[in-house]
Amino acid sequence: MKTEHQRTALITGGNKGIGKEIARQLAERGFAVFIGARDIAKGRETSEELCRQGYEATFIQLDVTDPVSIKNACGTFSQKADHLDVLVNNAAVLEDHGENIIKLNTEMLDRTLKANVSGPILVIQDFLPYLLKSTIGARIINVSSGAGALNDMTTYAPAYSISKTALNAVTRQFAGALKSETIAVNCVDPGWVRTDMGGPNASRPVEKGAETIVWLATEAPLSETGKFWHDKREVEW
Ligand SMILES: NC(=O)c1ccc[n+]([C@@H]2O[C@H](COP(=O)([O-])OP(=O)(O)OC[C@H]3O[C@@H](n4cnc5c(N)ncnc54)[C@H](OP(=O)(O)O)[C@@H]3O)[C@@H](O)[C@H]2O)c1
Repeated sequence: MKTEHQRTALITGGNKGIGKEIARQLAERGFAVFIGARDIAKGRETSEELCRQGYEATFIQLDVTDPVSIKNACGTFSQKADHLDVLVNNAAVLEDHGENIIKLNTEMLDRTLKANVSGPILVIQDFLPYLLKSTIGARIINVSSGAGALNDMTTYAPAYSISKTALNAVTRQFAGALKSETIAVNCVDPGWVRTDMGGPNASRPVEKGAETIVWLATEAPLSETGKFWHDKREVEW
């Protein structure tokens, strides 16, 4: 059981890409990290890799589209820790492949909203009791995207973009609802990052993609809440 002095972090979709790098950077800063992953083998592999590097990492099976899986993940978490200081809602899907809103398949939109919007809402709701037990002020970071910014939205990936705009709204809603509880809730555009989702031609390495998320999880003033960030600067919605 982690004591109240051990900082803890849960990263959804922590088995690869930006999520894995967030987990590594937080573990490097002394956090006991919980790798949320839907695939048991991939999640275990990542947590074992971090443990071999001398970090404290635990795998938790967590499919953000399955409410039962989220509840079970809470149960597993409660056997290992009594509080949660940082929750990173990182898991997401991008199913649009050159789709146009005029012919958008709304079943694909529903799947995308389930993973990218309802998932983070349910994860926050179910892990809230543990976030409330943080003695240092808990932080929730929702990994959004520039594609979700309304101010310069294009026709790119409509289902994904709509989901990230909605995730930004989710961020504002929770920030308002949790302000009196001293829980900071922010969202981040990590930029175009070389991962399975971003592809090999993306301009940024995962280290850079994780940077602002890790900053909000650690050094950023706790008074910063309800904002949209990119490269440690507040950006337009
Ligand atoms: N890469 C970019 O250029 C870029 C740009 C802007 C924003 N982002 C955002 O950054 C975050 C991380 O993306 P990434 O680039 O690291 O993508 P990635 O390499 O494709 O990783 C996505 C992660 O989400 C997990 N995931 C998907 N659906 C899930 C579910 N139902 N339950 C649990 N986990 C699930 C995946 O698990 P599996 O391994 O099982 O599939 C994987 O761990 C996402 O929120 C994404 O929208 C990325």
